[in-house]
Amino acid sequence: MLFKQQALLRQKLLVLGSLAIGSLLYLVARVGSLDRLQPLCPIDGRFGPHGQEEIPLRALQFKRGLLHEFRKGNATKEQIRLHNLVQQLPKAIIIGVRKGGTRALLEMLNLHPAVVKASQEIHFFDNDENYAKGIEWYRKKMPFSYPHQITIEKSPAYFITEEVPERIYKMNSSIKLLIIVREPTTRAISDYTQVLEGKERKNKTYYKFEKLAIDPNTCEVNTKYKAVRTSIYTKHLERWLKYFPIEQFHIVDGDRLITEPLPELQLVEKFLNLPPRISQYNLYFNATRGFYCLRFNIVFNKCLAGSKGRIHPEVDTSVITKLRKFFHPFNQKFYQITGRTFNWP
Ligand code: A3P
Repeated sequence: MLFKQQALLRQKLLVLGSLAIGSLLYLVARVGSLDRLQPLCPIDGRFGPHGQEEIPLRALQFKRGLLHEFRKGNATKEQIRLHNLVQQLPKAIIIGVRKGGTRALLEMLNLHPAVVKASQEIHFFDNDENYAKGIEWYRKKMPFSYPHQITIEKSPAYFITEEVPERIYKMNSSIKLLIIVREPTTRAISDYTQVLEGKERKNKTYYKFEKLAIDPNTCEVNTKYKAVRTSIYTKHLERWLKYFPIEQFHIVDGDRLITEPLPELQLVEKFLNLPPRISQYNLYFNATRGFYCLRFNIVFNKCLAGSKGRIHPEVDTSVITKLRKFFHPFNQKFYQITGRTFNWP
């Protein structure tokens, strides 16, 4: 009898214990998401269409999960209508530079409750076939968002493609343009590393970086090599400036985004006229990855894919020196035009 009562008591304690643990877990998760809930603050500024009812950030954040479902294409027409969701053309584009940290920048900006990212690179303006499909095709590639959110896409090929500035200008002459740059030689080696990895995956052999970057006939820097040309930032920017004033560009320091992302993101928030909402809480350093990762709340966090942050091959120091010397005057011009100086050698 006593044994039976003890078993019953144990069972009750077990149920109560599970309930307590369950509630605790729920509370912990809620506190995590509450951390991300922002005070009521409508987004004003250039992006908000005047005179329309504005959605408070709290509501936007709360519905982020729902948006995610819609982005995956799981929304019915009725749901889209009910939630007043739209596919908007981007108000800002990360136009480059390839290997500058474009993915990290997009993902980090997406932490902001008023920002919605186009997950894929759309390559609308740099690809003639896509461009021929028209602006409605482009808009339909955009994620669903609330009218007061802004959509951002990134296609790093835009920065270096001849036709793109004019095409973007035709779509929206007041669009905001983000360019993330890294020290040009490091960027070129990163670019090479990505191509090398692709070749290795296909069991192909490839040249050494030194052989591509230096012309064997002249022993000078090979300006025909794409990874070198892409790093001459000022040349590309000058083409863009034929269409857009410099005030429409914001230069992000890609090297600093790696080591100290928050101040860089805060500068972008300011440039986009967004209230500051990304905090240190949203970014944590992951020692295993060696990079900052994203924290949405206490439960949900993510690091960038392994293809971001590759180990670069060792490059002959004389080649590095030669490249740095080569880029130097172009860098000076870039600082002068953009008003942003970097400690590049
Ligand atoms: P490496 O692979 O050379 O290290 P992109 O997205 O434009 O292709 O840029 C890739 C670069 O983003 C990577 O170059 C990496 O250094 C940089 N990066 C910046 N922040 C990062 C982060 N939080 N996680 C991973 N990579 C990051």
